Amino acid sequence: MSARTPFVVANWKMNKTATEAEAFVAGFRGLLPAPPPGVDLAIAPPFPALERTGRALAGSGVGLAAQDVHAEQKGAYTGEVAASMLADLGVAFCLVGHSERRRDRHETEEQFARKMKRLVEAGIAPLYCVGETLEQRDRGETDAVLADQLTALDLFGPDLPPGFVLAYEPVWAIGTGRAATPEMAQAAHRHLRTLLSRRAGAVAAEAVRVLYGGSVTPANARELFSQPDIDGGLVGGASLNPADFAALAEAAAAATAAPGS
Ligand code: 13P
Repeated sequence: MSARTPFVVANWKMNKTATEAEAFVAGFRGLLPAPPPGVDLAIAPPFPALERTGRALAGSGVGLAAQDVHAEQKGAYTGEVAASMLADLGVAFCLVGHSERRRDRHETEEQFARKMKRLVEAGIAPLYCVGETLEQRDRGETDAVLADQLTALDLFGPDLPPGFVLAYEPVWAIGTGRAATPEMAQAAHRHLRTLLSRRAGAVAAEAVRVLYGGSVTPANARELFSQPDIDGGLVGGASLNPADFAALAEAAAAATAAPGS
């Protein structure tokens, strides 16, 4: 059995006011008072809901995550949020490089590297997102695209950022209802682990949690999470409903108890 603790992260994207987030947490805690044994959970609400979500989660065992951070420590960057501000709210994890931001903000690996550096300085674990578009997959470029996206780790030399989590999110699977097959996802995760191993050595690479994201639902989660190199999920749509998020947590527990089933 893998030594990696399965991890399911809710990425709420631009959904839920602080009031709605509190209602979600109350409902979720009613269904699942604590994460299933051996499973880690976190919720990434939009910035305005971070503080109240964090308060509502106190004592639940569910971690607080942010969806993005700025690449500088502080200063004249109107509308931006610094890593120290997230840490002050109890944020433990932060997404970097989500494909929706790659698409809409045209951010680069060099910026993602600096964002991860700021997070590490603030004691927050980076959750770095990678994944190819459909056109890139059709051209046979998936492996090269993933290798290129991992160059954001160059700034850290032969080490990986403390607490580093990787998420493989094929762009064509996000919000489309068309998840990668378990075999496709496993192949990409294995490739990513090989790339991590070349940078940081096999021991460090085997310890990194690699989450799958893209149309994960309670119906397909268990099979995906049972793959040997898939250590849980980064979930958008299905994480917006307390019963579905609870079911995803249970799927991670079941996948760990009986991998491959
Ligand atoms: P969906 O689960 O809605 O496909 O979104 C996946 C995602 O982008 C999570 O970060």
